[in-house]
Amino acid sequence: MMLLRADNITKRFGGVQALDHVSFEIAEGETVGLIGPNGAGKTTLFNCINGTLPIDSGRLYFCGNDVTGRKSYQMTALGICRSYQVVKPFRRMTVLQNATVGAFCREKSRKAAENTALEALRTVGLYEKRDEQGAVLNLGESKRLEIAKALSTRPKLLLLDEVMAGLLPAEVKAMSAIIKGINRAGVTVILIEHNMEAVMTLSDRIIVLNFGKKLAEGTAADIAADKAVIDAYLGTEEEENHAYN
Ligand SMILES: Nc1ncnc2c1ncn2[C@@H]1O[C@H](COP(=O)(O)OP(=O)(O)OP(=O)(O)O)[C@@H](O)[C@H]1O
Ligand SMILES: [Mg+2]
Repeated sequence: MMLLRADNITKRFGGVQALDHVSFEIAEGETVGLIGPNGAGKTTLFNCINGTLPIDSGRLYFCGNDVTGRKSYQMTALGICRSYQVVKPFRRMTVLQNATVGAFCREKSRKAAENTALEALRTVGLYEKRDEQGAVLNLGESKRLEIAKALSTRPKLLLLDEVMAGLLPAEVKAMSAIIKGINRAGVTVILIEHNMEAVMTLSDRIIVLNFGKKLAEGTAADIAADKAVIDAYLGTEEEENHAYN
């Protein structure tokens, strides 16, 4: 089933055309990577999909319904939730309390909300840290808490914005396993990521943005061999060696 359809999504900030008629479809159960250079419009696309920002024109369909113009809390209730590129835990609340906030979007009682949150914390490997303050987590743990906060809303579609950025190689590996587990449990995932190895391995399909436009779309192998993508973003091994020498 087609879960999400974006039809000519356009967004402008003053003189900046952040998104220029971007169209794509996401099928239920997929993990899709969203890549492209800094400023390409990736985060803006997430902001537009989950209603953080209104779009200028275009339409958005979720589960076959036109959801264009819905606010972020309405999108969350429908089943689209996202993490943020910059981690912002509630610093003086415990890890469990942090994760419980989102659970209230579906649960009425505190007990039920906490149970949902505990399940989300288990999924991201923070169950043991549940009674710690949000402020004491390191970057890797904070990134995982951001995912738990989103996961506790029980999304059908989870949007992850650079959850690997700044992580150590071992943490990247652990994060990849967490994302794979979330997807296997039935959640469709769109993943913004600059770590090419991780995103290419995890994704069924990749969408490339450049200057607000969709530059390419395909399997990891297609994208890695695409001349326009190499020129705009990936570069060649030769160029990489040159840059370091
Ligand atoms: N709220 C905003 N107000 C004004 N301009 C914005 C806003 N958000 C993004 N932009 C601009 O829109 C363009 C796309 O930004 P966006 O943050 O979506 O890029 P990105 O692909 O997520 O980049 P990065 O990989 O660096 O996170 C940039 O030129 C950015 O400066
Ligand atoms: Mg971004």
